Amino acid sequence: MCRWATQSGGVERPQMDIDQLKGRLRIPAMVSPLFLGSGPDMVVESCKAGLIGTFPELNQRTAEGFEQWLREIRQRLDGKDCAPFGAQFTPHDTNPRFGPDLQAAIKYQLPIVITTIRITREVTDAVHAYGGLVFHDATTIRHAQKAVEANVDAVIAVTHGAGGHSGSYNPFAFMAELRAVLQDKALILAGGISDGQSVAGAIVAGADLVSMGTCFVPTVECMTSQGHKQMILDSNITDIVYTDEVSGMGASFLGQTLKKFKVSENSVRSLDVMREITPKVWRDYWSAGQGVGGSTEILTVRALAERLEREYIAAMRRAGSIARQHASNRDKIFGARADPDRLAS
Ligand SMILES: Cc1cc2nc3c(=O)[nH]c(=O)nc-3n(C[C@H](O)[C@H](O)[C@H](O)COP(=O)(O)O)c2cc1C
Repeated sequence: MCRWATQSGGVERPQMDIDQLKGRLRIPAMVSPLFLGSGPDMVVESCKAGLIGTFPELNQRTAEGFEQWLREIRQRLDGKDCAPFGAQFTPHDTNPRFGPDLQAAIKYQLPIVITTIRITREVTDAVHAYGGLVFHDATTIRHAQKAVEANVDAVIAVTHGAGGHSGSYNPFAFMAELRAVLQDKALILAGGISDGQSVAGAIVAGADLVSMGTCFVPTVECMTSQGHKQMILDSNITDIVYTDEVSGMGASFLGQTLKKFKVSENSVRSLDVMREITPKVWRDYWSAGQGVGGSTEILTVRALAERLEREYIAAMRRAGSIARQHASNRDKIFGARADPDRLAS
Protein backbone atom coordinates (compact mmCIF):
# COMPACT_ATOMS: atom_id res chain seq x y z
CA MET A 1 0.00 0.00 0.00
CA CYS A 2 1.24 3.41 -0.82
CA ARG A 3 4.62 1.99 -1.78
CA TRP A 4 5.85 1.12 1.69
CA ALA A 5 9.42 -0.13 1.93
CA THR A 6 9.34 -3.84 2.76
CA GLN A 7 6.94 -6.62 3.53
CA SER A 8 6.57 -8.17 6.98
CA GLY A 9 4.12 -10.94 7.82
CA GLY A 10 1.75 -9.87 5.05
CA VAL A 11 1.58 -6.26 6.28
CA GLU A 12 3.73 -3.77 4.44
CA ARG A 13 6.13 -1.75 6.52
CA PRO A 14 5.75 2.03 6.38
CA GLN A 15 9.40 3.04 6.73
CA MET A 16 9.85 6.67 5.80
CA ASP A 17 11.12 9.91 7.22
CA ILE A 18 9.43 13.29 7.18
CA ASP A 19 11.11 14.39 3.92
CA GLN A 20 10.00 11.22 2.16
CA LEU A 21 6.53 11.76 3.58
CA LYS A 22 6.39 15.33 2.24
CA GLY A 23 7.50 14.07 -1.16
CA ARG A 24 4.35 11.98 -1.41
CA LEU A 25 1.84 14.76 -0.75
CA ARG A 26 -0.12 16.95 -3.19
CA ILE A 27 0.35 19.85 -0.79
CA PRO A 28 2.11 19.67 2.62
CA ALA A 29 -1.08 18.97 4.52
CA MET A 30 -2.80 16.51 6.79
CA VAL A 31 -6.56 16.20 7.16
CA SER A 32 -6.99 16.43 10.95
CA PRO A 33 -8.69 13.68 12.95
CA LEU A 34 -12.32 14.71 13.50
CA PHE A 35 -14.42 13.18 16.25
CA LEU A 36 -17.67 11.79 14.77
CA GLY A 37 -16.40 12.98 11.37
CA SER A 38 -13.52 10.95 9.99
CA GLY A 39 -13.91 7.30 9.06
CA PRO A 40 -12.61 5.01 6.34
CA ASP A 41 -14.21 6.91 3.42
CA MET A 42 -12.67 10.21 4.48
CA VAL A 43 -9.26 8.66 5.19
CA VAL A 44 -9.14 6.71 1.93
CA GLU A 45 -10.27 9.69 -0.20
CA SER A 46 -7.78 12.00 1.55
CA CYS A 47 -4.89 9.61 0.91
CA LYS A 48 -5.95 9.06 -2.71
CA ALA A 49 -6.13 12.85 -3.16
CA GLY A 50 -2.54 13.17 -1.87
CA LEU A 51 -3.22 14.38 1.68
CA ILE A 52 -2.47 12.52 4.92
CA GLY A 53 -5.79 10.98 6.01
CA THR A 54 -6.46 10.46 9.72
CA PHE A 55 -9.18 9.45 12.17
CA PRO A 56 -9.53 9.35 15.98
CA GLU A 57 -9.34 5.84 17.52
CA LEU A 58 -12.53 6.67 19.44
CA ASN A 59 -14.61 7.14 16.29
CA GLN A 60 -15.02 3.41 16.52
CA ARG A 61 -16.91 2.35 19.60
CA THR A 62 -14.84 -0.78 20.31
CA ALA A 63 -11.24 -1.96 19.99
CA GLU A 64 -12.45 -4.65 17.56
CA GLY A 65 -14.11 -1.97 15.45
CA PHE A 66 -10.93 0.10 15.44
CA GLU A 67 -8.93 -2.90 14.25
CA GLN A 68 -11.53 -3.57 11.58
CA TRP A 69 -11.13 0.02 10.27
CA LEU A 70 -7.35 -0.35 10.15
CA ARG A 71 -7.77 -3.53 8.11
CA GLU A 72 -10.35 -1.94 5.81
CA ILE A 73 -8.33 1.22 5.13
CA ARG A 74 -5.20 -0.81 4.40
CA GLN A 75 -7.12 -3.02 1.98
CA ARG A 76 -8.75 -0.08 0.17
CA LEU A 77 -5.42 1.73 -0.24
CA ASP A 78 -3.51 -1.40 -1.15
CA GLY A 79 -1.50 -0.97 -4.33
CA LYS A 80 -2.51 2.68 -4.75
CA ASP A 81 0.10 5.41 -5.14
CA CYS A 82 -1.14 7.70 -2.40
CA ALA A 83 -0.37 9.53 0.82
CA PRO A 84 -0.02 7.60 4.10
CA PHE A 85 -2.69 7.55 6.79
CA GLY A 86 -2.74 7.85 10.55
CA ALA A 87 -4.93 7.55 13.61
CA GLN A 88 -5.15 9.75 16.68
CA PHE A 89 -4.89 8.26 20.17
CA THR A 90 -5.68 9.71 23.58
CA PRO A 91 -3.29 8.13 26.10
CA HIS A 92 -5.10 9.17 29.29
CA ASP A 93 -5.95 7.31 32.52
CA THR A 94 -9.63 7.71 31.70
CA ASN A 95 -9.27 6.03 28.27
CA PRO A 96 -9.23 2.21 28.64
CA ARG A 97 -9.08 1.86 24.84
CA PHE A 98 -5.56 3.25 24.47
CA GLY A 99 -3.68 -0.01 25.27
CA PRO A 100 -5.66 -2.34 22.99
CA ASP A 101 -5.86 0.24 20.18
CA LEU A 102 -2.09 0.84 20.24
CA GLN A 103 -1.55 -2.92 20.02
CA ALA A 104 -3.76 -2.99 16.93
CA ALA A 105 -1.81 -0.07 15.44
CA ILE A 106 1.41 -2.02 15.95
CA LYS A 107 -0.12 -5.21 14.52
CA TYR A 108 -1.29 -3.38 11.38
CA GLN A 109 1.79 -1.15 11.28
CA LEU A 110 -0.18 2.06 11.19
CA PRO A 111 2.01 4.52 9.24
CA ILE A 112 1.34 7.56 11.47
CA VAL A 113 0.40 7.54 15.16
CA ILE A 114 -0.90 10.88 16.44
CA THR A 115 -1.07 11.35 20.21
CA THR A 116 -2.75 14.03 22.29
CA ILE A 117 -2.51 14.81 26.02
CA ARG A 118 0.39 12.41 26.79
CA ILE A 119 3.31 10.77 25.04
CA THR A 120 5.98 8.40 26.33
CA ARG A 121 9.20 6.96 24.98
CA GLU A 122 7.64 3.47 25.09
CA VAL A 123 5.03 4.53 22.56
CA THR A 124 7.46 6.18 20.15
CA ASP A 125 9.90 3.24 20.44
CA ALA A 126 7.11 0.78 19.67
CA VAL A 127 5.99 2.75 16.59
CA HIS A 128 9.53 3.43 15.35
CA ALA A 129 10.31 -0.30 15.72
CA TYR A 130 8.00 -1.10 12.79
CA GLY A 131 8.91 2.03 10.80
CA GLY A 132 5.97 4.29 11.69
CA LEU A 133 6.03 7.98 12.56
CA VAL A 134 4.72 9.65 15.72
CA PHE A 135 3.17 13.14 15.77
CA HIS A 136 2.16 14.75 19.06
CA ASP A 137 -0.32 17.61 19.61
CA ALA A 138 1.10 20.50 21.64
CA THR A 139 -0.61 23.67 22.77
CA THR A 140 2.26 24.83 25.00
CA ILE A 141 6.06 24.83 24.92
CA ARG A 142 6.07 22.35 27.81
CA HIS A 143 3.95 19.87 25.83
CA ALA A 144 6.39 20.24 22.92
CA GLN A 145 9.42 19.70 25.16
CA LYS A 146 7.90 16.49 26.55
CA ALA A 147 7.17 15.30 23.02
CA VAL A 148 10.78 15.95 21.96
CA GLU A 149 12.02 14.07 25.05
CA ALA A 150 9.83 11.15 23.98
CA ASN A 151 11.51 11.29 20.54
CA VAL A 152 8.46 12.05 18.40
CA ASP A 153 8.97 12.78 14.70
CA ALA A 154 6.81 15.89 14.63
CA VAL A 155 5.00 18.24 16.94
CA ILE A 156 1.59 19.52 15.90
CA ALA A 157 1.36 23.11 17.15
CA VAL A 158 -2.35 23.53 17.83
CA THR A 159 -2.85 27.26 17.97
CA HIS A 160 -5.53 29.79 18.75
CA GLY A 161 -8.66 29.44 16.67
CA ALA A 162 -8.29 25.74 15.88
CA GLY A 163 -11.41 23.56 15.82
CA GLY A 164 -11.87 20.98 18.58
CA HIS A 165 -9.55 21.29 21.57
CA SER A 166 -7.25 24.14 20.76
CA GLY A 167 -4.46 26.20 22.21
CA SER A 168 -4.49 29.91 22.93
CA TYR A 169 -1.22 31.00 21.29
CA ASN A 170 -0.75 33.06 18.17
CA PRO A 171 0.77 30.82 15.46
CA PHE A 172 3.71 33.14 14.58
CA ALA A 173 4.75 33.62 18.20
CA PHE A 174 4.32 29.93 19.05
CA MET A 175 6.25 28.74 15.97
CA ALA A 176 9.09 31.17 16.68
CA GLU A 177 9.54 29.78 20.20
CA LEU A 178 9.07 26.18 19.10
CA ARG A 179 11.95 26.30 16.61
CA ALA A 180 14.62 26.15 19.31
CA VAL A 181 12.74 23.47 21.25
CA LEU A 182 12.08 21.16 18.30
CA GLN A 183 15.65 21.01 16.93
CA ASP A 184 15.45 18.42 14.11
CA LYS A 185 11.81 17.48 14.72
CA ALA A 186 9.22 18.55 12.18
CA LEU A 187 6.64 21.22 12.93
CA ILE A 188 3.02 20.83 11.85
CA LEU A 189 0.87 23.93 12.22
CA ALA A 190 -2.85 23.65 13.06
CA GLY A 191 -5.48 26.31 13.62
CA GLY A 192 -7.56 28.42 11.27
CA ILE A 193 -5.94 27.10 8.07
CA SER A 194 -8.80 26.71 5.61
CA ASP A 195 -7.34 27.68 2.21
CA GLY A 196 -4.23 27.13 0.13
CA GLN A 197 -2.96 30.67 0.74
CA SER A 198 -2.84 29.94 4.47
CA VAL A 199 -1.06 26.64 3.83
CA ALA A 200 1.58 28.54 1.83
CA GLY A 201 1.82 31.18 4.57
CA ALA A 202 2.45 28.52 7.21
CA ILE A 203 5.15 26.85 5.12
CA VAL A 204 6.87 30.16 4.33
CA ALA A 205 6.76 30.97 8.05
CA GLY A 206 8.63 27.74 8.85
CA ALA A 207 6.12 24.92 9.24
CA ASP A 208 6.90 21.58 7.55
CA LEU A 209 3.27 20.61 7.21
CA VAL A 210 -0.15 21.88 8.23
CA SER A 211 -3.13 20.12 9.77
CA MET A 212 -6.59 21.21 8.58
CA GLY A 213 -9.81 20.19 10.31
CA THR A 214 -12.69 22.62 10.09
CA CYS A 215 -12.64 23.00 6.30
CA PHE A 216 -12.89 19.21 5.88
CA VAL A 217 -16.09 18.93 7.95
CA PRO A 218 -18.31 20.10 5.06
CA THR A 219 -17.12 17.37 2.71
CA VAL A 220 -19.23 14.59 1.26
CA GLU A 221 -17.13 11.91 2.97
CA CYS A 222 -17.20 13.47 6.46
CA MET A 223 -19.57 11.51 8.75
CA THR A 224 -20.88 14.50 10.75
CA SER A 225 -24.55 15.45 10.41
CA GLN A 226 -25.84 17.53 7.51
CA GLY A 227 -26.86 20.13 10.10
CA HIS A 228 -23.27 20.50 11.32
CA LYS A 229 -21.96 20.83 7.76
CA GLN A 230 -24.63 23.39 6.84
CA MET A 231 -23.98 25.43 10.00
CA ILE A 232 -20.29 25.63 9.05
CA LEU A 233 -21.23 26.91 5.58
CA ASP A 234 -23.55 29.49 7.17
CA SER A 235 -21.10 30.67 9.84
CA ASN A 236 -18.16 33.01 10.10
CA ILE A 237 -15.47 33.85 12.64
CA THR A 238 -17.89 35.78 14.87
CA ASP A 239 -19.84 32.58 15.55
CA ILE A 240 -16.90 30.73 17.11
CA VAL A 241 -16.82 30.51 20.91
CA TYR A 242 -13.77 29.21 22.79
CA THR A 243 -14.61 27.73 26.17
CA ASP A 244 -13.41 25.08 28.63
CA GLU A 245 -16.83 24.70 30.22
CA VAL A 246 -18.15 22.04 27.87
CA SER A 247 -15.37 19.47 28.10
CA GLY A 248 -12.99 20.66 30.81
CA MET A 249 -10.37 21.71 28.25
CA GLY A 250 -10.41 24.78 26.01
CA ALA A 251 -12.22 23.99 22.76
CA SER A 252 -13.87 25.94 19.92
CA PHE A 253 -17.57 25.58 19.25
CA LEU A 254 -20.18 27.00 16.92
CA GLY A 255 -21.80 29.47 19.34
CA GLN A 256 -25.28 28.77 17.93
CA THR A 257 -25.16 25.26 19.44
CA LEU A 258 -24.04 26.51 22.87
CA LYS A 259 -27.24 28.50 23.41
CA LYS A 260 -28.83 25.47 25.11
CA PHE A 261 -25.70 24.75 27.16
CA LYS A 262 -26.26 25.17 30.90
CA VAL A 263 -23.04 25.85 32.80
CA SER A 264 -24.34 24.68 36.17
CA GLU A 265 -25.67 21.35 34.85
CA ASN A 266 -23.03 20.39 32.33
CA SER A 267 -19.75 22.04 33.13
CA VAL A 268 -16.81 19.85 34.09
CA ARG A 269 -13.51 20.59 35.78
CA SER A 270 -11.18 18.04 34.24
CA LEU A 271 -10.89 15.89 31.14
CA ASP A 272 -12.62 12.51 31.20
CA VAL A 273 -12.16 10.76 27.88
CA MET A 274 -15.09 8.41 28.33
CA ARG A 275 -17.37 11.34 29.12
CA GLU A 276 -16.06 13.17 26.06
CA ILE A 277 -17.23 10.42 23.76
CA THR A 278 -20.73 10.17 25.18
CA PRO A 279 -23.20 11.63 22.71
CA LYS A 280 -23.86 14.64 24.97
CA VAL A 281 -20.67 16.61 24.45
CA TRP A 282 -19.72 16.77 20.77
CA ARG A 283 -23.02 15.61 19.31
CA ASP A 284 -25.03 18.37 20.96
CA TYR A 285 -22.39 21.09 20.82
CA TRP A 286 -20.85 21.30 17.37
CA SER A 287 -17.24 22.25 16.95
CA ALA A 288 -15.53 24.42 14.34
CA GLY A 289 -12.50 26.69 14.34
CA GLN A 290 -12.03 30.31 13.34
CA GLY A 291 -11.31 29.27 9.75
CA VAL A 292 -15.01 28.44 9.38
CA GLY A 293 -15.57 31.32 6.92
CA GLY A 294 -13.36 29.53 4.36
CA SER A 295 -16.10 26.99 3.56
CA THR A 296 -18.94 28.00 1.24
CA GLU A 297 -20.06 24.71 -0.32
CA ILE A 298 -20.02 21.00 0.35
CA LEU A 299 -17.28 19.42 -1.76
CA THR A 300 -15.81 15.98 -2.12
CA VAL A 301 -12.46 15.56 -0.37
CA ARG A 302 -10.80 15.35 -3.80
CA ALA A 303 -12.40 18.59 -5.05
CA LEU A 304 -11.34 20.38 -1.87
CA ALA A 305 -7.78 19.00 -2.18
CA GLU A 306 -7.63 20.24 -5.79
CA ARG A 307 -8.89 23.69 -4.78
CA LEU A 308 -6.35 23.88 -1.96
CA GLU A 309 -3.58 22.90 -4.38
CA ARG A 310 -4.56 25.64 -6.90
CA GLU A 311 -4.60 28.24 -4.12
CA TYR A 312 -1.32 26.96 -2.69
CA ILE A 313 0.49 27.12 -6.03
CA ALA A 314 -0.85 30.63 -6.73
CA ALA A 315 0.27 31.80 -3.27
CA MET A 316 3.73 30.27 -3.65
CA ARG A 317 4.12 31.93 -7.07
CA ARG A 318 3.18 35.22 -5.44
CA ALA A 319 5.78 34.62 -2.71
CA GLY A 320 8.41 33.87 -5.39
CA SER A 321 7.53 37.00 -7.32
CA ILE A 322 7.68 39.12 -4.13
CA ALA A 323 11.13 37.64 -3.35
CA ARG A 324 12.36 38.52 -6.86
CA GLN A 325 10.91 42.03 -6.59
CA HIS A 326 12.56 42.43 -3.20
CA ALA A 327 15.94 41.35 -4.63
CA SER A 328 15.59 43.78 -7.50
CA ASN A 329 14.66 46.67 -5.18
CA ARG A 330 17.61 45.80 -2.99
CA ASP A 331 19.91 45.91 -6.02
CA LYS A 332 18.65 49.37 -6.88
CA ILE A 333 19.01 50.67 -3.32
CA PHE A 334 22.36 49.12 -2.42
CA GLY A 335 23.84 48.72 -5.88
CA ALA A 336 24.88 45.14 -5.10
CA ARG A 337 23.67 42.03 -6.87
CA ALA A 338 21.24 40.26 -4.53
CA ASP A 339 19.38 37.31 -6.00
CA PRO A 340 16.55 35.56 -4.17
CA ASP A 341 18.68 32.46 -3.50
CA ARG A 342 21.35 34.52 -1.78
CA LEU A 343 18.70 36.35 0.21
CA ALA A 344 17.29 33.03 1.37
CA SER A 345 20.62 31.72 2.65
C1 LIG B 1 -15.48 18.83 14.38
C2 LIG B 1 -14.10 18.64 14.91
C3 LIG B 1 -13.78 17.47 15.60
C4 LIG B 1 -12.48 17.27 16.08
N1 LIG B 1 -12.19 16.10 16.71
C5 LIG B 1 -10.91 15.85 17.11
C6 LIG B 1 -10.57 14.60 17.69
O1 LIG B 1 -11.38 13.70 17.88
N2 LIG B 1 -9.28 14.41 18.05
C7 LIG B 1 -8.33 15.37 17.86
O2 LIG B 1 -7.17 15.13 18.19
N3 LIG B 1 -8.63 16.55 17.33
C8 LIG B 1 -9.90 16.81 16.94
N4 LIG B 1 -10.19 18.01 16.36
C9 LIG B 1 -9.12 19.01 16.17
C10 LIG B 1 -8.42 18.75 14.87
O3 LIG B 1 -7.76 17.52 14.91
C11 LIG B 1 -7.41 19.87 14.51
O4 LIG B 1 -6.50 20.09 15.56
C12 LIG B 1 -8.12 21.17 14.20
O5 LIG B 1 -9.31 20.92 13.48
C13 LIG B 1 -7.23 22.08 13.36
O6 LIG B 1 -7.72 23.39 13.30
P1 LIG B 1 -8.80 23.91 12.23
O7 LIG B 1 -10.09 23.21 12.59
O8 LIG B 1 -8.89 25.35 12.52
O9 LIG B 1 -8.34 23.56 10.87
C14 LIG B 1 -11.49 18.26 15.88
C15 LIG B 1 -11.82 19.42 15.19
C16 LIG B 1 -13.10 19.62 14.71
C17 LIG B 1 -13.41 20.87 13.94
